Amino acid sequence: MSTKQLQLADSDSGVKTPLKVRDGTLGPSVIDIGNLYPDAGFFTYDPGFKSTASCESAITYIDGAEGILLYRGYPVDQLAEQSSFIEVAYLLLYGELPDRESLEAFQHSITVHTMIHESMLRFFNGFHFNAHPMAMVSGVVGSMSAFYYDSDINNARHRDIFAHRIIAKLPTIAAAAYKHSLGQPFIYPQNHLDYCSNLLNMFFAVPSETYEIDRVAAEALDLLFILHADHEQNASTSTVRLAGSSGTNPYSAIAAGISSLWGPAHGGANEAVLNMLETIGSVEQIPRYVQRAKDANDKFRLMGFGHRVYKNFDPRAKIIREMCHKLLSKLGNTDSPLFELALRLEEIALKDEYFIAKNLYPNVDFYSGIIYKALGIPKSMFTVMFAVARTVGWVAHWQEMIADPARKIGRPRQLYTGPKRRDYVAVEMRKAG
Ligand code: SDX
Repeated sequence: MSTKQLQLADSDSGVKTPLKVRDGTLGPSVIDIGNLYPDAGFFTYDPGFKSTASCESAITYIDGAEGILLYRGYPVDQLAEQSSFIEVAYLLLYGELPDRESLEAFQHSITVHTMIHESMLRFFNGFHFNAHPMAMVSGVVGSMSAFYYDSDINNARHRDIFAHRIIAKLPTIAAAAYKHSLGQPFIYPQNHLDYCSNLLNMFFAVPSETYEIDRVAAEALDLLFILHADHEQNASTSTVRLAGSSGTNPYSAIAAGISSLWGPAHGGANEAVLNMLETIGSVEQIPRYVQRAKDANDKFRLMGFGHRVYKNFDPRAKIIREMCHKLLSKLGNTDSPLFELALRLEEIALKDEYFIAKNLYPNVDFYSGIIYKALGIPKSMFTVMFAVARTVGWVAHWQEMIADPARKIGRPRQLYTGPKRRDYVAVEMRKAG
């Protein structure tokens, strides 16, 4: 509880309702309105949840004004620099960095859960080759609830098995979607490979040739996955929490999160950024599109710009931008016209009064697609890559919610603006039109 005192004074009735204030470890305090309706007869109203804390969480902290992102208290730039995706997954799930033995045990558990049931692979043959990979992945992840329905979500061991299974299997499912789109045979996981090397192998190996893992590519992927692993109560994580709050099968809750992530306002933005850069086409065209992005009557927006929380640089965008420079030169395609275009677009937009006034900076999706493209991953797979990484955050938040003894089903209310009560009228009595 906080020492701050607040109250709601109703000028009509003169009633003053004390409001409980709670302080977190970092960030804004919250007004606990849990009893506002029974105490004062009001709902609060906040479409888009711009000022609403939906839960208490110890996983990730974001300071939008300062551009700070902490995973269990560790700055994401330090983790990007010194950790690995598997170690970050352990940190997000269990709250502490693992000792050597725990890390190896966790890594081993993930490795030996990477294969998927053969019947699951057959689902892919039901999709047309040009089905969007996000549609295939959300469908097949949802089908996991048909294979793993005997777990008791109130049993911590069962929750752990779910966590390891789905984190391990997402790359296999993602790669199967990609192979299906190419008409190529599925490539099975290889237990001697690390998480990201395994994914690259399942994506790009073919049975007729040996495939050499590019260490630079595997390290770039590992870094991107660290940066995409979690992000507080974003739309897809909130979807997983709300879906999971009913006690549904956890694989179904994750499938709901994948569906939410797909939207172009959220994880679908990385694919939309590449489409936008290709549409803009050249540096000379940038002013025209920046003008369109500023026009309230034009639906066009600069994809990869803006963020509900960051009103400063998204710390992940900065790291990915630096990474672009290094990776493109290591991979030898330094003259990436799309990267040049993105740099110039960022430079022009960040000098523009409209973007400055609205605090619109590049977000995590602005540069990530350029790296995925440099790694040979097609645009249609960009959001799938985001989903692979964010599965760790979704699972961590699902675990935190389910393990909370005070857990309740999420059930928001509304401001009703529909018709008042009225009686049924027989069709003969109704006025035409
Ligand atoms: C992710 O929540 C998370 O943490 C998400 C994420 C994660 O890791 O989980 O960080 C990942 O989803 C990043 C965001 C990716 N989306 C995009 O890049 C799509 C383009 N961005 C916008 O659609 C928008 O900025 C949002 C959706 C990201 C944020 O929307 P908000 O907070 O609801 O803000 P808004 O739409 O109300 O915009 C505020 C103003 C508006 O102008 P006014 O109505 O005040 O006149 O800024 C304008 C908007 O028109 N604006 C833009 C713009 N984004 C906002 N104008 C031009 N180009 C843009 N990109």
